Amino acid sequence: MNTITIAIDGFSSTGKSTVAKQLAKALGYVYVDSGAMYRAVTYFAMQKGFIKTDCFDEEGLISQLDQIKISFKFNHELGFAEVFLNGENVEKAIRTLEVSQFVSQIATVSEVREQLVKQQQNFGKDKGVVMDGRDIGTVVFPDAELKLFMTASAEQRAQRRYDELIERGEDVSYEDVLLNVQTRDYIDSNREDSPLTIAKDAIEIDNSNMTLQEQFELVLKLSEDKINLEA
Ligand code: DC
Repeated sequence: MNTITIAIDGFSSTGKSTVAKQLAKALGYVYVDSGAMYRAVTYFAMQKGFIKTDCFDEEGLISQLDQIKISFKFNHELGFAEVFLNGENVEKAIRTLEVSQFVSQIATVSEVREQLVKQQQNFGKDKGVVMDGRDIGTVVFPDAELKLFMTASAEQRAQRRYDELIERGEDVSYEDVLLNVQTRDYIDSNREDSPLTIAKDAIEIDNSNMTLQEQFELVLKLSEDKINLEA
């Protein structure tokens, strides 16, 4: 069967990774969570003291970028690939609200983007990949055969994210999560390098009123149509 590249972009907490994982599994494709890579760099910056609430030593981080090795390893029990930073499994550590509060700032650094984009393009060089993020259809894979752009209201997205964090045992308030979602939307959409924008050939999907199953069926149908068209 013909293999294609599927790029899924959109605002934070729009359920991109959920549908990307489902899709990769159904099609037998590789799933790559590009946001996890920016989160891993953020976690590294936090551990090294380059980023704190009131200060960000951008030059310090840039000088150590060559010491960051990010990899993914498929976990058969979970059914998706977990992210590793210099050999350490950081899949859980990168999902905290603290990392979320710093990650958009880290993602504005062009040197960080350059390094991660190269690695992302390498992951997708043989096609058969579903990658989600902010600039996948615009910068990483501008020639992707299928580009999706997911949206939902900020309140809906904050509620979903809040439920996830609470389930994981984090002590957070809905208001803080909503503020984080809105702040990230703003920074992600307004940064100079590769801002979040909808690619002109992307299909926009507002999933505010869709169940996960409805969303999956729609996206699978769009993918299968594209695969058949390319065959
Ligand atoms: O998808 P996520 O919420 O885990 O992504 C975390 C942050 O990483 C997001 O706020 C912006 C940044 N990001 C990016 O700039 N480009 C990508 N391709 C993916 C994520």
